[in-house]
Amino acid sequence: MTAVVIDGKAFAAGVREQVAAHVARLKEEHGLTPGLAVVLVGEDPASQVYVRNKGTQTVEVGMTSFEHKLPVDTSEADLLALIARLNADPQVHGILVQLPLPPHLNSELIINTIDPAKDVDGFHISNVGLLGTGQKSMVPCTPLGCLMMLRDHHGKLAGLEAVVVGRSNIVGKPMAQLLLGDSCTVTIAHSRTRDLAEVCRRADILVAAVGRPEMITGDMVKPGATVIDVGINRIERDGKSRLVGDVHTASAAAVAGAITPVPGGVGPMTIACLLANTLTACCRANGLPEPEGLTV
Ligand code: GUN
Repeated sequence: MTAVVIDGKAFAAGVREQVAAHVARLKEEHGLTPGLAVVLVGEDPASQVYVRNKGTQTVEVGMTSFEHKLPVDTSEADLLALIARLNADPQVHGILVQLPLPPHLNSELIINTIDPAKDVDGFHISNVGLLGTGQKSMVPCTPLGCLMMLRDHHGKLAGLEAVVVGRSNIVGKPMAQLLLGDSCTVTIAHSRTRDLAEVCRRADILVAAVGRPEMITGDMVKPGATVIDVGINRIERDGKSRLVGDVHTASAAAVAGAITPVPGGVGPMTIACLLANTLTACCRANGLPEPEGLTV
């Protein structure tokens, strides 16, 4: 079998188009412009690239982008004061604090200071609890993007065996909750899982989110399975720097029914879902109906 390649880049462009259409309607009918505030502390090069891309795409869909770039030695009190100001600002519907933060800042405290209604990352403990109990919440962007692609590819997911490899708060755990919410039979595998290959081979849906380059190989994939590769790992090969996922794409694609590539799979969906979450937050804040198909 040669897998169908799920084109995340095209899918993300479609999501952004839908968001842009909703934003135009919000402006026309209600005089509202969704606003997203992104806070970056320090000068980590990868974070700077992410923040720049977020800002550009926010403006492209017609939203307002507020960027707050703070020096690496910003105090916790100053950062908390900025978040309090953003929480109170009616023009700001979404707040994202770029992670990782410098080690002197308490990330959990800072994330849990964001108004949960503006927590477009879905990292606030209230949103984690709401998602875990099947209530309306803000859903973390990367797993939301994966779920959108899976629903599009499969239609209904009920009854499918799903294996999520990786137990991070950002991807693995919320991904498992979302799949459970769609009535999959869910297993979370991790570094201590015994016979990982055997566990993975049970999966109709296999989500790899471990951060280990090309760790999931074709022999770990059930024939016909859908493989979602969340990994973005920069490696050196043949003297060149390249991006690879957590899945060994060539061997997995020979067995899988469908697979997301790296780059161009899950990656572009993350920012598209951040924009979707900002739109959702703006609608909720103003008592308006939520956009269909852009949230769970
Ligand atoms: N750093 C890398 N990915 C993310 C993300 O999705 N959200 C935030 N806040 N920081 C990140």
